[in-house]
Amino acid sequence: MSDRDRFREAVIEGLSSSPKVLPSRYFYDPEGDRLFQQIMELPGYYLSRAERDNMPAVAEGIRDWMRQTALDVVDLGSGDGRKTEILLEGLLGAQSDLRYFPVDISPSVLELQSQRLLERWPDLILQPVAADYLRSPWVLPEAPGKRLFLFLGSNLGNFTGEAEEALFALLRRLCRPGDGVLLGLDLAKRPERILAAYNDPEGVTARFNLNLLDRINRELGGDFDRSAFVHWPIYDPIALEARSHLVCVRQAEFGLSGGPRFSFEAFEAIHTETSRKYSLAQTERKAGRMGFLQTRSFVHRDAEGEAIFADLLWERPTREYQS
Ligand code: AVI
Repeated sequence: MSDRDRFREAVIEGLSSSPKVLPSRYFYDPEGDRLFQQIMELPGYYLSRAERDNMPAVAEGIRDWMRQTALDVVDLGSGDGRKTEILLEGLLGAQSDLRYFPVDISPSVLELQSQRLLERWPDLILQPVAADYLRSPWVLPEAPGKRLFLFLGSNLGNFTGEAEEALFALLRRLCRPGDGVLLGLDLAKRPERILAAYNDPEGVTARFNLNLLDRINRELGGDFDRSAFVHWPIYDPIALEARSHLVCVRQAEFGLSGGPRFSFEAFEAIHTETSRKYSLAQTERKAGRMGFLQTRSFVHRDAEGEAIFADLLWERPTREYQS
């Protein structure tokens, strides 16, 4: 099935269900990538800055974990890779046997990132993989030493239910005993601070959500009128989830070219994204449930000492430990 057919199927399934839903992974077309870059620079979107600031300490910890062995770094959903660049900077000084495999659905993003890295480190062994790592088959070469899978930026927070299960099933398959996953997670904190990250006064996050409707129009011949929708984020402090919606403010009907039409009651909402937050008290147990052992944690705190963001090393246990 082509990517376009998969997108079409997801839109039809999501807008036919109740409540209506559109999967957030479809945010990321070239326009969505551009808007996400802007989001990461917004004053209220603290996640990227916090993780960037955490990276020197993370690099030091990973250097200690590697103990001079050869390392393959596999970056899942690498995006523009700026955080990874700081990590690589910290690792390359101590490690000559390092190979870097950025895996991303967007070939143009991979191209840009690879160019930048090779300008900086012409000898870096780098092999970009353009793939939807959960849905299309892809292979990694044999690794002489350890493998470290990066899943940064609190991307895990956008994976709910089955998607999270599928992700960890993939990671269990790819990791050999002793390999690790470095997981960047946004932590639960004051609700107003979380909500502000998804509700910027500049309106960039609103445009990021509305672009999903434009993408349906562009790629699937839809006739969605974005002016009928408003972006409505909430934070649920029990579920620890920021959830974004597009609320249709009038009764309307929109559809796809040659395809089904979808009716909207006035004020009916489409759920567009879940961004889960994490409590540090729960991550070790979660690692165990997913078949990993949390062996290191790097917590970034703000000037007031509040824990903002964590990068956790989850290792695939040795066979003795598993049995
Ligand atoms: C990519 N992901 C972790 C972002 C998040 O915070 O959930 C996507 C995003 N959505 C709105 N702003 C940023």
